[in-house]
Amino acid sequence: MKRILSGIQSSGTPHLGNYLGAMKNHIEMQKDHECFIFIADLHALTTVRDPEKMRSMIREIAIDYLALGLDPDKTVFFRQSDLPEHSELAWILSTVTPLGLLERAHAFKDATAKGMKEPSTGLFTYPVLMAADILLYKPDLVPVGKDQKQHIEIARDIAEKFNNTYGEVFPLPDPYIPDQSAYIIGTDGKHKMSKSYGNVIEFFADEKTLKKQVMSIVTDSTPMQDPKDPAKCAVYKLYAYFATPEEQKTLADKYKKGGFGYGDAKKILLAKLLEYFAPYRQKRIELQSDLGYIDTVLREGAKKARKVANKTMAEVREKTGLNFK
Ligand code: TYM
Repeated sequence: MKRILSGIQSSGTPHLGNYLGAMKNHIEMQKDHECFIFIADLHALTTVRDPEKMRSMIREIAIDYLALGLDPDKTVFFRQSDLPEHSELAWILSTVTPLGLLERAHAFKDATAKGMKEPSTGLFTYPVLMAADILLYKPDLVPVGKDQKQHIEIARDIAEKFNNTYGEVFPLPDPYIPDQSAYIIGTDGKHKMSKSYGNVIEFFADEKTLKKQVMSIVTDSTPMQDPKDPAKCAVYKLYAYFATPEEQKTLADKYKKGGFGYGDAKKILLAKLLEYFAPYRQKRIELQSDLGYIDTVLREGAKKARKVANKTMAEVREKTGLNFK
C-alpha cells in the first residue's frame, strides 16, 4: 500500500479550494492508501497571533476533517506541534538548504508582494518546515492542490541535498495533484481561492455567510436574455464539481438558451452546496458537542505518528553524528 502524507494549516474555516484541491482526495484515498494527515499549526503561527484563536482553530479544522469523513482508524491524524521532531528536522534540513532555493519560493514572494510589512524569518523558511513534515514520514505521494507544487519540489531538492551530504535517508516525495481539482478559482474569478484574496466560499459557514459568498461570485455583463457560455462562468464551473452529468447538462442548456441570469445560476449553486454538504454539516454539529473526543483522536494520532517520526530521526542523528555511540 502506498503511503500518503498531507497537511492543512489551522488558519481559518476551510474553503472549496481546500476541499476540492485536497481534503476530498485525502478522504477518498483512505480506502487504498496508508494515510498521514496533519494540522499544520506551526505553519499557521506565521499568520495567527492570537492564542485563543489558535487553540480554537486547531480543534475546528480537526472537526471539519472528521465531519467530512476522515476516519482516525484508517488515517493517522495528528497535530504538527505535538511532534517536536518536525521542528528538529526542519532545523537540520535548514543547514543544508541553499538560501537561493528559498528566495525562489513563490509563496514568500507573493506574501511580500501583497504588501506584508515585516515578513518573518518563519515565513521565509516555511518550505523547510514543510520539507521536514514530508520527509519525516517518507511518503510515496503528497496529495495537494497545485499551489503547493513548488513547495514539494523544494522538499525534493532539500532531500537530495541531505542525501548527497550525509548518505541516503530520504526517498524523494512525489506530488499528487489530480487535474480536475488542481486549482480552484476564487469568487473574484481571477485568483486561486484563498483567504488572503478574500475570495473564498466556506462550505461550513452559516447559511447567510455562504449565500453572501456565493452571490459575490464575479460574472461577466452578458444581459439576462442573451445566451451564455457555461465553460467561461465561475458559477457553472463550481457547480460542475458537485453535480451529476445530467444536472450539469440541464444547467449548461439553460446558459446556452438565454433568458437565464447569473443570479439564477448562483441560487442553483447555493442549493447544490447546501444539499451536498448537509450530512457533513450535521456530523459537524455532533462532533462539536464532544471536544474530548477530538482531543483524544489527535493525541492518539500523535502517538502513531511519533513511531514513524522517531525512526526517521534516529537515522538522521546517526548520519549527522548527532548521537553518541
Ligand atoms: P493550506 O492550508 O493553504 O491548504 C490546504 C490544502 O488545500 C489546497 N488548496 C487548494 N487547492 C486547489 N485550489 C485552491 N484554490 C486551493 N487552496 C488551497 C492546498 O494546495 C493544500 O493541499 N503549506 C500547506 C500546508 C502544509 C503541507 C505540509 C501540505 C504544511 N506542511 C506538508 C502537504 C505536506 C498549506 O499552506 O496548505
